[in-house]
Amino acid sequence: MHKPLRDVLDGKRQAVPPVWMMRQAGRYLPEYMAVRKTVGSVLDLCFTPKFAAEVTLQPIRRFGFDAAILFSDILVIPHALGRSVRFETGEGPKLEPLNDPGAMMALRGTADDAVLAPIYETIRLVKAELPAPVTFLGFCGAPWTVATYMVAGHGTPDQAPARLFAYRHPEAFARLIDVLVETSTNYLVRQLRAGVDAVQIFDTWAGILPPHEFQRWCIAPTRRIVAYVRRAVPGAKIIGFPRGAGSNLKRYVEDIEIDAVGLDWMVDLDFARDAIQRRRPVQGNLDPLALRAGGAALDRSVDAILESLAGGPFIFNLGHGILPDTPVAHVEQMLKRVRNYPGR
Ligand code: CP3
Repeated sequence: MHKPLRDVLDGKRQAVPPVWMMRQAGRYLPEYMAVRKTVGSVLDLCFTPKFAAEVTLQPIRRFGFDAAILFSDILVIPHALGRSVRFETGEGPKLEPLNDPGAMMALRGTADDAVLAPIYETIRLVKAELPAPVTFLGFCGAPWTVATYMVAGHGTPDQAPARLFAYRHPEAFARLIDVLVETSTNYLVRQLRAGVDAVQIFDTWAGILPPHEFQRWCIAPTRRIVAYVRRAVPGAKIIGFPRGAGSNLKRYVEDIEIDAVGLDWMVDLDFARDAIQRRRPVQGNLDPLALRAGGAALDRSVDAILESLAGGPFIFNLGHGILPDTPVAHVEQMLKRVRNYPGR
């Protein structure tokens, strides 16, 4: 069966670009909130296959997106490594900070498979219900981004705790990154074996690193994950999303054998077409705030992206996750605009 998004990952341009949204299962949807109310926390939702499958499918039923993304979270990996992870409403994630070099060197090296097993069950449930043309995406966080939360114990605007730690204790930090490379590889391989069609590696905090550190903590570990996953699952399809990478995007696509690269909303469209899309299919990059604003600003932003990128292999998406206060009608407006684009 023809899956338009999957075909773009094979380098084949589609006349109508396939479209999905990062964080498409989420709080802007009343049906998500209804399920969310019946479970305790985001982690409980991630580990309850019946509900996780339901919220994965909700945006497909409502909007007919070209991809479904598994409902889970990047922080299930630290949780499966035995670290304490909690989500508090309105406050974001809280982890037990890992900021002692000795404790880092002693970190348990493998994730507890039993903890992650419900996620693979969710994949089987979704797979059984997903319309054939819809591409099913799994994901993980990139080691650097997951490490920023593990070191600080919470989100920060500049990731100063992880950056400082990596400068002061590069060996201990490299050990943490190695553990995350190994566990993320196993996690993605098991997702692929359970039935996802492709996976995305979210490096939300890639853009905060200076070039040398970007090479060491973003590119090198991601490159290893891609190589190890393909060793276990030949031909595995992988999308990289190094948010904020800017001019480092060129090196990212030169050095990593990904099948497509996700662009955040700050990426210049001419640069995206000329320097990036020449090398790899691209995905992106509507400003989530343009989607929230709606109206003429939304139409204008969608058109500019399509004019620059729809001439090559391209997946329409946001430049980062949808914001909770985004009206559903704006998502419909965006979809109509993309699907009626006359640039065939
Ligand atoms: O629809 C989807 O995209 C699938 C589900 C998904 C979630 N988290 C569920 C979730 C995905 C792909 C993620 C990835 C994720 N999680 C990232 C990388 C992508 C990005 O957006 O940058 C990061 C950095 C996290 C860590 C995380 N999880 C944070 C910082 C928060 C709190 C902030 C917030 O938005 O509330 C979460 C919680 C979370 N994970 C929610 C969802 C839908 C929202 C909380 C809720 O429903 O109560």
